[in-house]
Amino acid sequence: MTMRVLSGIQPTGRFHWGNYFGAIRQYIELQHQTPNAFYFIANLHALTTVRDREELAQNTLDAAIDLLALGLDPQRATLFVQSDVPEVSELCWLLLTGTPMGLLERCHAYKDKKERGLPADAGLFTYPVLMAADILAYDSEVVPVGDDQVQHLEVTRDLAASFNHHFGQTFVLPKAKVMPAAARVPGTDGAKMSKSYGNTLEVFEDPKSLRKKIMRIVTDSRPMEEPKDPDSDHLFQLYSLFASDGDRESMAALYRRGGFGYGEIKKALADVAVDYFAAARTRREELAGQPERVRQILADGAARARAKAAEVLDRARRACGLVY
Ligand code: TYM
Repeated sequence: MTMRVLSGIQPTGRFHWGNYFGAIRQYIELQHQTPNAFYFIANLHALTTVRDREELAQNTLDAAIDLLALGLDPQRATLFVQSDVPEVSELCWLLLTGTPMGLLERCHAYKDKKERGLPADAGLFTYPVLMAADILAYDSEVVPVGDDQVQHLEVTRDLAASFNHHFGQTFVLPKAKVMPAAARVPGTDGAKMSKSYGNTLEVFEDPKSLRKKIMRIVTDSRPMEEPKDPDSDHLFQLYSLFASDGDRESMAALYRRGGFGYGEIKKALADVAVDYFAAARTRREELAGQPERVRQILADGAARARAKAAEVLDRARRACGLVY
């Protein structure tokens, strides 16, 4: 049996370094380890934040182009759009009927919003259940994600185990796979990089504006001469994402010795980052001119994904008495 891998990413805007190093890079590595790697663009989840038709449609196509440009290979992995597999929405309902309210009340996306006094809707509240359906619909075993999704994987395991307990063995229990070195990529202000914090550095950002943003990264104001601890500095963490082991070590030594300006490090970071994504940028330009080809890849992917999801949904429907 080959390992079944699955992950999803929301088309809420352009991908940032956190998405790439925490998740997308793992997608690309794993597609070489199994013929069963499924990756999808979570447009149903994105509906909880993007409420503009054209924007959502464009973001969805852009997300596919970005993933392909970054190295996702449709010959190896199955790439599709979440809403093209309606079986998942039905499965979501089956799971919802067995989801305790308290479990969802503890989930961070909803909790954070509520604590900030912002209005929340049922879509946001039940978001983790749709995510569980996404994962369980393909008998997924391994789910490559960043740290922020680990809680949702726990919810998925809970829901699957309780369904299995109640109706008999139906779902496979999945596991999160997190890259320790990029579990929680920091943003320009040192907090977790996230669109909602406005602290992102984007993968396909225009090099000039990327340089500008990097030069504005917040650093401490201690004198140049003073030695500094690289491990507690987010600029160093960002540099480490791109640097070879040797370059990282030399940079760490520079921190410990002191006597440098943060400007030099920011320049080194900008150079290495622009260079790192240069080939993908060229591929992206080519793909952007071929939207029909991209739509065909997504349609082929959806057909493969649906075949698997239909099999699992049928199993779940039988288990809970919907086949009479
Ligand atoms: P989303 O779209 O917010 O993020 C996509 C992936 O990027 C990771 N990520 C990060 N990793 C490290 N450091 C960061 N600063 C950072 N920011 C984002 C996320 O952990 C994620 O892996 N709910 C999911 C989408 C989803 C999904 C699924 C994922 C829907 N269904 C089923 C896995 C399986 C989400 O909002 O990801």
